Amino acid sequence: MSALGQTAESPILARGIHRYLTAHSSPPDDLLVDLAEETRRKLGDVSVMQIGAELGTLLTILASSIGARRAIEVGTFTGYSSVCIARGLPADGHLLCCDVSEEWTSIARGYWKRAGLDDRIELRIGPAARTIAALPVEPVHDLAFIDADKTSYQTYYDLLVPRMRAGGLILVDNALQQGNVLQDDSRNANIQAIQAFNNALASDDRVQVVLLAVSDGLTIARKL
Ligand SMILES: C[S@@+](CC[C@H](N)C(=O)[O-])C[C@H]1O[C@@H](n2cnc3c(N)ncnc32)[C@H](O)[C@@H]1O
Repeated sequence: MSALGQTAESPILARGIHRYLTAHSSPPDDLLVDLAEETRRKLGDVSVMQIGAELGTLLTILASSIGARRAIEVGTFTGYSSVCIARGLPADGHLLCCDVSEEWTSIARGYWKRAGLDDRIELRIGPAARTIAALPVEPVHDLAFIDADKTSYQTYYDLLVPRMRAGGLILVDNALQQGNVLQDDSRNANIQAIQAFNNALASDDRVQVVLLAVSDGLTIARKL
């Protein structure tokens, strides 16, 4: 999720830097611009849940750089991140998308078709923990992206780790909670959950971890 919009200032970067880095990264193509605009037009304020353009570009770069063939997305919404991940997969690749909303993902389905990606994306509607738990516990996935309800991040991560191949990447969005992870006394359930999750990840010897100040904070956990 981005709270930034396409060109707004970032709550976690020095003034002007977000605008500068966006201007010096590959711009989203017409399809992604249309997807962002349709989401804003139809869903209004809810559209802040969509990832930012620079994170989308990074998802494509990471998926293609590691030669990902099998990927899982937890939290699809209207499809921006799924299009970016699927674009980094080969033609016979597979992205399993998990979401609870038929309404929001119906917009995603239209863009998967328009992008020519509908043959490599499978959507399962239902609680993501149930969807992932139903997958065989085999280390066959190359990439996972977690961007759903924050209080379940630890659950999703623990279900995903044994299903990732060695060298596979689990990417976790909103790891900085707009800088609020610095609050010691937050009573916000999302912030508390992400603080606990970040602490657990930093000492998880199953993975190598880096937390990047991209968008609202992106953690990359590489399975060892
Ligand atoms: C921040 S949005 C995802 C944004 C998306 N990655 C994008 O690029 O536009 C979070 C999504 O998680 C979904 N979600 C919330 N709770 C869920 C759950 N328990 N299982 C699966 N999906 C869930 C919501 O329906 C919503 O679409």
